[in-house]
Amino acid sequence: MTAAVPVIETRGLGKVYSAGTEAEVVALANVDLRIAHGDFVAIMGPSGSGKSTLMNLIGCLDTPTAGQYLCDGIDVATLDAEALAELRRDKIGFVFQGFHLLPRMTALENVAMPMGYARVPPAERVERAQAALEAVGLGARSGHRPNELSGGQQQRVAIARALINQPPVLLADEPTGALDSKTGEEILALFKRLRDDGHTVVLITHDAEVAAHADRTFVMRDGELHEEVR
Ligand SMILES: Nc1ncnc2c1ncn2[C@@H]1O[C@H](COP(=O)(O)OP(=O)(O)O)[C@@H](O)[C@H]1O
Ligand SMILES: [Mg+2]
Repeated sequence: MTAAVPVIETRGLGKVYSAGTEAEVVALANVDLRIAHGDFVAIMGPSGSGKSTLMNLIGCLDTPTAGQYLCDGIDVATLDAEALAELRRDKIGFVFQGFHLLPRMTALENVAMPMGYARVPPAERVERAQAALEAVGLGARSGHRPNELSGGQQQRVAIARALINQPPVLLADEPTGALDSKTGEEILALFKRLRDDGHTVVLITHDAEVAAHADRTFVMRDGELHEEVR
């Protein structure tokens, strides 16, 4: 039997900003990362170490200057803009420190957003968004706008939105950074539950206590990535 294809695999991945100028920054150097389906992984490192750069590459929001990235076995460099947008929509759910919810929309409408009007009929959109809110414990808050929700509730809405297209990977950049520690613990417990349900969670954080909740931790230092031995 062949080993399962990792959901995320980078080979010698590198990113240099403003190459060849005085402002040149080597943000990422020779990163080899393999994440299997169902892993809960933390990527830890101080500010400026390259975490967001790596997240942007894994999330196909930016392109590397060296190396290769295979997302669920697909070499993303071979995709045109349309195929890349599709891959991003289908494979990756994003969660950010600042939640990034649309203030005029209800929780349900925010969660339904990534489904796309053309692809999913209205009744199914509502049904799926409601189910996603229930899965994060917010079924009773679907009609509330973000300013009527606590920070932890807003982050759970953002997580439901990230999961609405059932992507194999949930990519979270400092998802507890704007939350008090108790609320942060609740979000981390939710990630563990999602991991138990078969999701892959990649958690980016500068905080060792947060990273300790993951099953594996990688540490970034000056653009280099190493797995922490526990
Ligand atoms: N768009 C950019 N242009 C130039 N330099 C950048 C850009 N984005 C990040 N950097 C630099 O790359 C390095 C890594 O940044 P970043 O990935 O944001 O780190 P982290 O998320 O760990 O704080 C830093 O030195 C930062 O100043
Ligand atoms: Mg960052």
